[in-house]
Amino acid sequence: MIKDIQDEILRLKKEKDICILAHSYQAHEILEIADFTGDSYALSVKAAKVTNKNIIMCGVRFMAETVKVLSPEKNVYLAHPEAGCEMADMMDKQLISQVKEKYPDYTVVAYINTTSELKTICDVCVTSSSAVQIVKNVENDKILFIPDCNLGAWVAKQVPEKNIKLLSGGCPVHASIPVSEVKHARNLHPNAKLLVHPECLPEVTALADYVGSTSGIMEYAKNSDSKEFIIGTENSIAEHLQYECPDKQFYVLSSGLICKNMKLTTLVDVLNCIKGCGGEEISLDAEIIKGAKHCIDEMIRLNHE
Ligand code: 13P
Ligand code: SF4
Repeated sequence: MIKDIQDEILRLKKEKDICILAHSYQAHEILEIADFTGDSYALSVKAAKVTNKNIIMCGVRFMAETVKVLSPEKNVYLAHPEAGCEMADMMDKQLISQVKEKYPDYTVVAYINTTSELKTICDVCVTSSSAVQIVKNVENDKILFIPDCNLGAWVAKQVPEKNIKLLSGGCPVHASIPVSEVKHARNLHPNAKLLVHPECLPEVTALADYVGSTSGIMEYAKNSDSKEFIIGTENSIAEHLQYECPDKQFYVLSSGLICKNMKLTTLVDVLNCIKGCGGEEISLDAEIIKGAKHCIDEMIRLNHE
C-alpha cells in the first residue's frame, strides 16, 4: 500500500515537473520519495537552485515561505496547510519593531524559524547549523538575537566576544526537556554519547557530547566510532539513524520530543498536493519577498570561515 502511493507520487512528480523537499524530521516514507532532504540550512540553499517549475515542501510553513522567497517565480506548496511552527509564530513584526526602537544600534539576527513578514525588518537570518559562524562574521559587536533564547544562549557561549541580547522565545518541544530527564537517560545508557539540538535548554546542552543541527547530529552519529547514542532532538532522527546505521543503537532522550507540526504531513497529503486537491500554494506580497530575501541572502553571504 505505502509502496503503491510512493510509486504514484514518483510517477506524477516527474510528469508534472515537481521537486519535493523534505525536512529531516519528516517520516521515513516521505524522505524516501523526496528529491532532497536535510536541515533548514541545506533546504534553504537547495531552494534557490531548484530548476523544476513546482516545489512541494514537506516540513513547516516558515520553510515553505523561505522556498517562495528564494524562488518567487516557482509554484511553491506546503504539503500540509496546518503545519506551522510555534516558535515562528511567537514574535511578530510589531513586537520586534518596538524592541528595535530600544536597541537602535544592534544588528537583528533572526533564526530562520520566523515568518517572512518578520524577516523583512531583520538584518540577517541564521539556522542552527550556521548561527555561530554567522554571528562571528556579523560586522557589528552588538546583536539582538530572536526568537530562540536557547539557541541564542548557546551561540553566545561560542562567541563570547559579542554582546548578544536575547528575548524569551523558543521551541516548546526542545525546551520542554529538563535536566532530570537527561540524567535519567544517561543512567539508563551510560556508554551512549548524548547528541542534542541547540534549541534545548542551556543546562541540557551543557551536558551534551555534541550540540548541533538535525543534520549535524546525524553526521556526528554516522561518523563516530561509538556504538550507542542518546538523541536529543525530534524523535524521528533516532528512527532515521537506526535505519541508516543498523549496527549502532539509538535511544530517544525523551518520549516527549515530538513536533506535532512536523508529524502532520502524510504520504497521502503529498499525493493530494500533487493532484491539486490538497496542500496550500504559498503566496507572499512582492514587498515581503524583497525584504525577507535580503535577510536570507545575508545568511548565505556571511556563512563562511
Ligand atoms: P534544523 O535547522 O536543525 O533543521 O532545525 C529546524 C527545526 O525546526 C528544529 O526544531
Ligand atoms: Fe518549530 Fe520546534 Fe517543531 Fe522545530 S521542533 S518546527 S522549532 S515547533
